[in-house]
Amino acid sequence: MHTIDIDLVEMTLDVMKYAIDRISNVTPELGAPKKEEDLLRIVGETVTASGIGGEAAFKLFRDVLVKATVPIDHPRHLAFVPAAPTRAAIMFDLVTSASSIHGAYWMEGGGGIFCENQAMKWLVSLTGMPKGTFGVFTSGGTAANLSAIVAAREEWRSREEDHIGHKGLLITSDAAHSSVQAMAKVIDADMLMIHCEGDNLTGKELQATINKLEEKDRKRLFAVVATGGTTNAGIIDELDTIADVCEKENVWFHIDCAYGGGALAARSVRHLFNGIERADSVTIDPHKWLFSPYDCGAVIYKDMELAKNAHSQKGSYLEIFKDEGAHGFNPSEYQIQLTRRVRGMPLWFSLAMHGTDKYRVAIERGIELAQIAAKKIEDRPYLELVRPPSLSVVLYRRKGWTPDQYREWTYKNHRDGVALVTPTKWKTNGEFETVSRFCFINPDTTEKDIDVILDTME
Ligand SMILES: Cc1ncc(COP(=O)(O)O)c(C=O)c1O
Repeated sequence: MHTIDIDLVEMTLDVMKYAIDRISNVTPELGAPKKEEDLLRIVGETVTASGIGGEAAFKLFRDVLVKATVPIDHPRHLAFVPAAPTRAAIMFDLVTSASSIHGAYWMEGGGGIFCENQAMKWLVSLTGMPKGTFGVFTSGGTAANLSAIVAAREEWRSREEDHIGHKGLLITSDAAHSSVQAMAKVIDADMLMIHCEGDNLTGKELQATINKLEEKDRKRLFAVVATGGTTNAGIIDELDTIADVCEKENVWFHIDCAYGGGALAARSVRHLFNGIERADSVTIDPHKWLFSPYDCGAVIYKDMELAKNAHSQKGSYLEIFKDEGAHGFNPSEYQIQLTRRVRGMPLWFSLAMHGTDKYRVAIERGIELAQIAAKKIEDRPYLELVRPPSLSVVLYRRKGWTPDQYREWTYKNHRDGVALVTPTKWKTNGEFETVSRFCFINPDTTEKDIDVILDTME
């Protein structure tokens, strides 16, 4: 397995040819999943005592298995939060793997961590947070949110002895991403959700909620989590007024910009994020709107020392990494993971190659596509906007359709290889309604793509 022979050469050529073909294909087949038993019937058992050979395994992947996946960068994949990694970032992901870098400590990963830090410097600059603010790349938004709320909880616990042994309380809105609730569960914190009824969370609502807390719960409040671009509708909470309340109440202010963070680079909407510069921590997912391959999230802290106090792991075999002789930035000390891939490297290479201006243009295109789609929806009598587009998300209804019809339409378009656009729910006047949703990330999506999809709803 570790020798260099003709099999290695052939396998490498197969892989490189596949990678080049794949990244130069702008409309890969919109694959669909098959049942596991069906896949097994087609490909057979692939892990055997003597191996099936690289050529055979690669053929099964290329001809069968990859076709049972949806290419997330397909221009008509507008479901969930799609992705559209740059070709440079994808190729450098191969380089990242080939370089076998341990991204935990500078002592081993210095050159790679340098690349990550260059990219991080740009991310931090987009937030306008004060000097001393910095961050690290994580496996995604969930891990970034978890890392931030652990840091917040530790800071709260360190403040008063009375806080030790008590369950913390976190406030967020009902539009926050499910990962916030899931991670509160992981750290065994209670969570209070403010119902925003489709609007953004404001400082006024937050203050009113805090005022209503009993004294014992007020003492347990350790963090407020606002959202900079909700996943369902692209809505940005009123960050400035929320920051006022957090400062007044002396509570950690975290902003989840996992999806919306890319839009910090878009001048047309940057003002909507005013107040972000006052956060204690921010989550941004480069694997969403900053065109990185999976998986790449980021957590940014105003005070890195607080993050280090929460996350730095101790162990006799780890001491050498923190030694003077190995001095440098150790990403593992600021988030939940020890051994880590230098997953910011593909973003760095792509930024270095293309420059940040091209990122701004590509992100603005997502916002523009949402506006174009909204106009096309308004021009079609059988369709209706649910609300004006926000960032790159468009919610719209097909007049007269039942939830089942939305579901059947989604499956049919997927089956026919036309598009993957999934329904969601939107609350109007206290009632949930099933509606359709576009989320634009990919600058390769065309106006024609939007027409093709909308026409299938007639
Ligand atoms: C606002 C928001 N936060 C967090 C997440 C979770 O991020 P990840 O899936 O990278 O863990 C998402 C994912 O869509 C999101 O949109």
